[in-house]
Parts: sequence; structure tokens; C-alpha cells
Amino acid sequence: MNTKSSRAVRWGLASLLAFSVLASAQELRPLQLPPPQIDGGKPLMQALKERKSSRSFSAEKLPAQLLGDLLWAAFGTNRPDSGQRTAPSAMNRQEIDIYVATADGLFRYEAKGHTLQPVLAEDLRAATGMQPFVNDAPVELIYVADYSRMGGGKDEDKNLYAAADTGFIGQNVYLFCASAGLATVVRGSVDRVTLAKTMKLRPEQKIILAQTVGYPQK
Ligand SMILES: Cc1cc2nc3c(=O)[nH]c(=O)nc-3n(C[C@H](O)[C@H](O)[C@H](O)COP(=O)(O)O)c2cc1C
Repeated sequence: MNTKSSRAVRWGLASLLAFSVLASAQELRPLQLPPPQIDGGKPLMQALKERKSSRSFSAEKLPAQLLGDLLWAAFGTNRPDSGQRTAPSAMNRQEIDIYVATADGLFRYEAKGHTLQPVLAEDLRAATGMQPFVNDAPVELIYVADYSRMGGGKDEDKNLYAAADTGFIGQNVYLFCASAGLATVVRGSVDRVTLAKTMKLRPEQKIILAQTVGYPQK
């Protein structure tokens, strides 16, 4: 092949690749989650009795209703008039964003409209942890604190509040999972530097914890 035609082939391949990335990014649209089903589920005392960490997951996807209910329980809006949420946050800063990694891509949960906003059209689940089950489970939640929403004050306090606020959300997820018969484990073992780059986070966004969710492995 002469230089001219090999350049043409390379250009053709490059534009094909660019097109397929563009096409898949365009396919990732905002997802309106179904309104949360707030009736049902196990009584709180039963859910507390069954709360536990699990590390063995089925690959089965969660239906949209269940995923939406999970996110609403985690940190949804439960008082639409004030925009306040199912978990508390220091000074009501609501600085924690829940990113949702699935086989379809990476999304950010937007509590206000109860939607999933597309972030990246890539399956990043494997990048969210070091334990093998992150490859199997259908949903990886990544709790990211946006320090730009935390106002002034000492870094020490902000770190404490971001960690505490994440803990409340994580426990909501644990209790929802216990109530809905799902398996979950909150995870600190995350390569935060690499994952933040992969997720294309801004410098003021910090990954606090991740949490795996799925049906239990039978
Ligand atoms: C902040 C925090 C970080 C954790 N990190 C991990 C982790 O990286 N991997 C893991 O398998 N479990 C992790 N866990 C789960 C704990 O190991 C688990 O909660 C503990 O063993 C008690 O078990 P239980 O949740 O079933 O009561 C973490 C828990 C917390 C609260």
C-alpha cells in the first residue's frame, strides 16, 4: 500500500472510531426514573435485623423502578417544597452526589427531577474497586463530595462533614437493600486518584466511598 492510501485507510479508521464513540455518547440520554414507590417494603425493625454487608452478587440488572427507589431512599428529595432529602447533610449543603456506574455507562443521580444524568458512555464498574465482585454486580454507587458546595471553613471540618454525610446515605442504601432483598457492601477500598481521572471529576470533587448493589448470588 502506498503512503497516500495507507493514510486514507488510517483516516477512515479514525473517523469510524470517532463516530462510534460519538454515537454511543449520544445514545446515553437522561433517564427519568419512575416515581418512588413509598408504600411497601419491610418494616424498619425487620430491615435493621437483616442489614448486612454481602460480597457475592448476581449479574442480573435492576429494573428502573427498583434502581429509582434505591436512589430515592439513598438521597432523594422527600420534601419537594424545601428540596430537602432522605439523608441529612451538615448545614443542608447537600454536597454529596451519587454517581451510578452500570453496564450502560456512568450517570449522576439528580434528586430534584429524580433522573439519571448521563456522564460517560462507558462501563466503569471494574474501575470502582479492587475486589472481584465489582465486575459482577449491576450497580456501583460512587459517593462524591463536591467541596465547591461546602462554603468556607476549615478543610478538616469539610472532610469530617463529607464523610459523615456519606455515611448517612450509605446506611439508607443498606436499609433499603435489606428491605428489598438486595445485596450491598459499602467500600473504602477504591483507587480514588485513578477513578477520579476516569470519571473526569473536577479538582474540587472528592470520592468518599463506593457501594456495590445487586441481587444476591443464588
Ligand atoms: C467506611 C467503611 C469502609 C468499608 N470498606 C469496605 C471495603 O472496601 N470492602 C469491603 O468488602 N467491605 C468494606 N466495608 C464493610 C465492612 O467490612 C463491614 O461493614 C464490616 O465487616 C461489618 O459487617 P456488616 O456490615 O455485615 O455488619 C466498609 C465499611 C465501612 C463502614
